[in-house]
Amino acid sequence: MSALKIFAYAIREDEKPFVAQWQEDHPEIEVQFTDQLLNEDTAKLAQGADGVVVFQQLEYTQKTLKALADLGINKMSLRNVGVDNIDQAAAKKYNFQITNVPVYSPNAIAEHAAIQTANVLRQATVMEQKVQAGDLRWAPTIGREVRDQVVGVIGTGHIGQVFMKIMEGFGAKVIAYDLFRNPDLEAKGYYVDSLDDLYAQADVISLHVPDVPANVHMINDESIAKMKDDVVIVNVSRGPLVDTDAVIRGLDSGKVAGFVLDTYENEVGIFNNDWRKKEFPDARLADLIKRPNVALTPHTAFYTTHAVEQMVIQAFDNNLLMIEGKEAKTPVKF
Ligand SMILES: NC(=O)c1ccc[n+]([C@@H]2O[C@H](COP(=O)([O-])OP(=O)(O)OC[C@H]3O[C@@H](n4cnc5c(N)ncnc54)[C@H](O)[C@@H]3O)[C@@H](O)[C@H]2O)c1
Repeated sequence: MSALKIFAYAIREDEKPFVAQWQEDHPEIEVQFTDQLLNEDTAKLAQGADGVVVFQQLEYTQKTLKALADLGINKMSLRNVGVDNIDQAAAKKYNFQITNVPVYSPNAIAEHAAIQTANVLRQATVMEQKVQAGDLRWAPTIGREVRDQVVGVIGTGHIGQVFMKIMEGFGAKVIAYDLFRNPDLEAKGYYVDSLDDLYAQADVISLHVPDVPANVHMINDESIAKMKDDVVIVNVSRGPLVDTDAVIRGLDSGKVAGFVLDTYENEVGIFNNDWRKKEFPDARLADLIKRPNVALTPHTAFYTTHAVEQMVIQAFDNNLLMIEGKEAKTPVKF
């Protein structure tokens, strides 16, 4: 019997060492990969493979899935969480078994949120700009200590919980709100009864909830009006959770003291691109980037060696389980 074979698409330089590591740990499996994305044309590169490993924002269309199915391949492992770009009807039609990596490193995201929040509280960008320009005076760039803040965490799932621990490590008072309370956190008395309670008490408000329709623009003019003056708003979760124009109005009026964002409403096609020699496509985003009390990163909270390793290893592990006819650890159920 010939060796089982896995073909991986869109492997980046930073992923290659982890692919090599997985191959070393599984010498009996044949692993091949390309830096190209999976589409109806590149599907043929996987010919002879038993399963594919993928990660892309590009759609997994009916034609792409059919091209794989025509090669006898219907086991696909995503190295990321999101499955919105998969044609579900086609996946069902061609009998695809799909896995994703729902949890790869909550710390990567929580830590990023904490670092950026602390930076905004200390006016790090303003100080950095002064230092770069040769202005080494202290005033008026005075910081706020994290331990003096009440940090309000909305969503106490995988990432929210780690963020709470980190902020407590700084000495902050942490309060939380979730539609489904975690019993341990509940016993420790973290939860407030309503979002309004959280808005009324928190100096820093950090979102760690999913982008489901009910949560779209949960931060808007109305919710900001209920927040304390000089609030810092943190969104490293998903762009649509925040009405960006409302936050900009808050920043302009001075009500909002700082804004941390790693995700943005219109980020697809803008983030993870080099705009240095091209016309910048989004005036509102350009304005946000220029503001010294806004800490913007292009959806890089997840981008750590630890997280990338987990995304690669878990995806290959899942794929192997499926092609060996076993149950995958994190199957996607449509
Ligand atoms: N920036 C990045 O690189 C990055 C990477 C991974 C995940 N994320 C995002 O981080 C967010 C949190 O991820 P997670 O893994 O912790 O999710 P999770 O599913 O573990 O936790 C989400 C929590 O939010 C709660 N929730 C949902 N709607 C709510 C609401 N309206 N009010 C209060 N609580 C609500 C849920 O009950 C759950 O406890 C997601 O939006 C995810 O997409 C961002």
